[in-house]
Amino acid sequence: MTENFRLFAGLISFALALYFVHLSGSGPGGTAELKQAIARWYARTYGYEFKPENVMASSGAKHSIHTFLAATVGPGNDVIIPTPYWVSYSDLVTMTGANAVLIHTTAANKFKLTVPQLEAAITPNSRILMLNSPSNPTGTVYTREELAALAECFLQRTDGAILSDEIYELLMYGDAKPTCIATLKPEYRERVVTISGASKSYAMTGWRMGWTVAPANVIKAMDNIQSQETSCPSSITQYAMITALDSPETATSVAAMLKEFAVRKHLTCDHLHAMPGIRLVEPDGAFYAFFEVSNFYGKSFGGKTVTGSIEFCTALLEQGHVNLVPGAAFGADDFARMSFACSQDNIRTGLGKLATWLKTAAE
Ligand SMILES: Cc1ncc(COP(=O)(O)O)c(C=O)c1O
Repeated sequence: MTENFRLFAGLISFALALYFVHLSGSGPGGTAELKQAIARWYARTYGYEFKPENVMASSGAKHSIHTFLAATVGPGNDVIIPTPYWVSYSDLVTMTGANAVLIHTTAANKFKLTVPQLEAAITPNSRILMLNSPSNPTGTVYTREELAALAECFLQRTDGAILSDEIYELLMYGDAKPTCIATLKPEYRERVVTISGASKSYAMTGWRMGWTVAPANVIKAMDNIQSQETSCPSSITQYAMITALDSPETATSVAAMLKEFAVRKHLTCDHLHAMPGIRLVEPDGAFYAFFEVSNFYGKSFGGKTVTGSIEFCTALLEQGHVNLVPGAAFGADDFARMSFACSQDNIRTGLGKLATWLKTAAE
């Protein structure tokens, strides 16, 4: 009985393995068709041409970032991250045993890392610079020239690489334009790793699809890790993604979504600007407002004295029934983040409640 069961289990595993190879065509990093669709998208959008061996799909951009870091850094390596940063960056670095080196940027400089700041943070241990434009949580969009200066500074002074998380690249307002850093110079394709995905531009968060464009040897190392973690991204999602990337209807839907986001952004900013004590640098991209709430630290709400962003957001949730994310989660305790990826009605209601609650502050 046990013998038969073992044989049966062995056959099933073999069949599954064959099925995965058939499914993914070119391996754990996605089917050949998906890789070609991603390559077509970059060629169309940025004139960036690369081969299927330079791309790998994962179950979300978070997993792409994890797999890239797991393949490239470990104990003794420094990964430079400008703050405020997306919540997972520092933890994903720490999980590899590498050291997250945080550089503080200021609202006065629109949360942009400067070349002198970067220069001062570089050491012989620096392996990776993580950049994210448009940014979560600040909505900051670097210009092409700013990114070129930062890339040049890092790549000249180290033999490391830049991880450019461009996941909000289609969500920008006013004159802001996306920059794919890998395309700034032909030689950058060897040193700049591009990560993006379906969650933001295509509102396909639950489908779990992200991708990495990198030199073939990096993709090979990532493939080896991913094959032991998830085998490959869901086959259903892979097929859906090809349609999302290729079809002209998607471009029309993204444009309509962006138009609505622009209205929500203005609605959000107008409300926040009208609240005494709140300071906001308006976002140029993504769908978040990251505003300073530290004027309220030391004040009391419903008998509770607020001393930082976690207490501020907890008191607001408990008393005002509005949910903001504390800036501490992004490495910036003076701030709180709200998402305007919700209806105009919800934005009006939520911000109305926030304004009312702020008025309850006592010295
Ligand atoms: C800057 C940034 N990068 C990556 C991700 C990960 O996206 P996903 O794993 O859903 O593709 C997010 C999600 O919030 C993000 O804000």
